[in-house]
This record gives sequence, structure tokens and C-alpha cells, in this order.
Amino acid sequence: MKNRLVTVFGGSGFVGRNIVRRLAEGGARVRVAVRDTEKAYFLKTCGDLGQVSLFPASLTSDEEVARAVVENADTVVNCVGVLYERGSRTFDAIHVQGAERIAKAAAHAGAKSLVHCSALGASPDATSAYARSKAAGEAAVLAAFPNAVLLRPSVIFGTEDGFFNMFADLARITHVLPYFTRIVPHAEGGGGTKFQPVYVGDVADVAVKVLQEDGHAGKTYELAGPTVYNMREILEMVCRYTDRATWICGLPFWVGRIQAQFLQYLPTPLLTPDQVKLLEVDNVADGSKPGFSDLGISAVTAETIVPTYLRRFRPYQQRKKLRLTAH
Ligand SMILES: NC(=O)c1ccc[n+]([C@@H]2O[C@H](COP(=O)([O-])OP(=O)(O)OC[C@H]3O[C@@H](n4cnc5c(N)ncnc54)[C@H](OP(=O)(O)O)[C@@H]3O)[C@@H](O)[C@H]2O)c1
Repeated sequence: MKNRLVTVFGGSGFVGRNIVRRLAEGGARVRVAVRDTEKAYFLKTCGDLGQVSLFPASLTSDEEVARAVVENADTVVNCVGVLYERGSRTFDAIHVQGAERIAKAAAHAGAKSLVHCSALGASPDATSAYARSKAAGEAAVLAAFPNAVLLRPSVIFGTEDGFFNMFADLARITHVLPYFTRIVPHAEGGGGTKFQPVYVGDVADVAVKVLQEDGHAGKTYELAGPTVYNMREILEMVCRYTDRATWICGLPFWVGRIQAQFLQYLPTPLLTPDQVKLLEVDNVADGSKPGFSDLGISAVTAETIVPTYLRRFRPYQQRKKLRLTAH
């Protein structure tokens, strides 16, 4: 990566910042294209003086995207995404039009490679608008930049994730952690939606690897972790690592649909009707696309990483006990 200039859109986000770190460690010059450069200032410390620069650009502006790419960037990474729609931040505007805008700008600028972050489960036939928009975004990107590499991660974990941290935070304030299931919770298969959580560091490693090596152009990689967990097992893991005796309760999806009607209006929605649709389908790799093993990367398990950052959600007394026993 030495001395390559890489433009990373969404570089201030959870996945983007990890990719920026890996790129900077590899010696690349990184241009982080973000709407609010001040919010991304912390990224400057990822590299040497001047190695990481911040560039103001919104995905909704043709000129800003073109300027972020056109000024000598030879590689482009798109990590922009939204989990819910708000005002003009629609799935179509960000996942489809925005992604297409970046791909067109990269092609126009003669960029050598483009890595696009999509999502496992992206499908034009999905019931969820999020998953459909991810599929439409992939198609738009490949139409504009046929050599783009598409990454489809399952749910991603890491210190700053919005998944394990959210449940751990909820476990602090409630005695019940609900999940949704189609059948009786304690019956076989009643553990709810299945996921294959993947470590953010592994996703970043893949992004850098496909940029460094030849032979990945035009490929789609499904990035799924080594273990499949259902929702109940994920919540049990959260309670175990946070030392909470929280009741884990399986509820039918119709309850989720009703809850989402209200929860979607929170400043940061806890659940939206579209997310309930997303949860109705398992999020596991079906093996039809290459993944970690084809890239020669062995993905780490959630058990290895998650306890290291959920520890901070433990009750105060527990933390005190740990501190005392350490002395
Ligand atoms: N996290 C997961 O579990 C997961 C799983 C599967 C797929 N993915 C995909 O991976 C990608 C990265 O996800 P993430 O978890 O890193 O998301 P994130 O933490 O929410 O970061 C999203 C990034 O996109 C930027 N952004 C949003 N709207 C923008 C706009 N209009 N113009 C320019 N930048 C904009 C955000 O910047 P601001 O701070 O300015 O908003 C932020 O830097 C997304 O495509 C997501 O769909 C994530």
C-alpha cells in the first residue's frame, strides 16, 4: 500500500475507521471523505504527520464526490451506509444513488480499484428495503465500475459496534432482553434469527488485502464469522460477559412489528419496521460466494473479542471486586 492514495468514504464510521487504520499502518496516504471533517479529526493520529487527510464531501453531491476522488486518488473505498431512513437520508439516496455516484466518479477519475461495503443478505427479492437497496447499490456499482470488489459482511462486532454494545447497554437499564422468534421460544429452532458475527478487524483486513493483491476484481466476498449463533445465544453471551442476570425472552414477530411502530421515532431508533423484516431472515453465508477461507484469512470468533469490550458494562460492585482481586 506504500504511498498509494486511497479515498475512503464513510471513513469516520465504525468499519471505515478500522479500514483507515489498516491502510495507514500499511503506509498508504489516506483521504477520508466525510461530511463533517471535525468529527473525523481523531483519524489524523492513525498515521504520520499528513498521512491521513480529511476531505469534506457528502454522498448526495456529484461535485463533492467527484472532487474527493478526482484529485489523484488511485483507490477508492466506500463504507457509507445507514440502518434506518431519516429525512433525505433514504436507503435509495445513500445505498444506491450515493454508491453509484462514487463508482462513476472512480471510473471517471481512472481509479485502479474500488471496494464497496454492502451487506450479507443483499437481495433484490428481500422483504426489507435495506437489503433490497444494498442489492440495487451493488448492481449500480458494478454497472459503473465492473472491477469493483463487493464485501458483504454479516453483523460486525468490535469495540465500537452498534450491536453487542447496544444489548449490553440495554441490559443495564432493563431486566428483560427480548428477541423475536417464529415458533415457541424453548422449542427446537425457537432461538430467533441466526447470525454469523464477524470481527471488524477481519473486515478491514479483507478490504486492504483485496486492494493490495491482483485477482479480486469484480468479485463478491461474503464475510461471515466462524460461528453461527441464534439471537438467544447472542443475548446469553451479552449477559454472561456483562455479569447480568437479565431475563431473555422470546416474543413473536407481530409484537416486534408493534414495538417498532413506536421505537422507530426515537432520536436513534432502537427498532424500525424495516429492521423487523430484516430480522425475519437468517443472516448467514450460504457458501455460494467466496469468503475468508478463499482469502487465506482465519476469522476470529466473537468469544475472543466481545468480552474485552463488554466488561465495562458490568455492575459497579463486580468491577470493584475485579479491581480488588487484581491487587
Ligand atoms: N456495522 C455492521 O454490523 C454492518 C453489517 C453489514 C454491513 N454493514 C455495512 O458496512 C458499511 C459501514 O457500516 P458502519 O457500521 O461503519 O456504519 P456507521 O458506523 O454508521 O458509519 C457510516 C458512515 O457513513 C457516513 N455517512 C452517512 N451518510 C453520509 C452521507 N450522506 N455522505 C457522506 N457520508 C455519510 C457516516 O458519516 P457521518 O458521521 O457524517 O454520518 C459514517 O462515516 C455500511 O455500508 C453498512 O451498511 C455494516
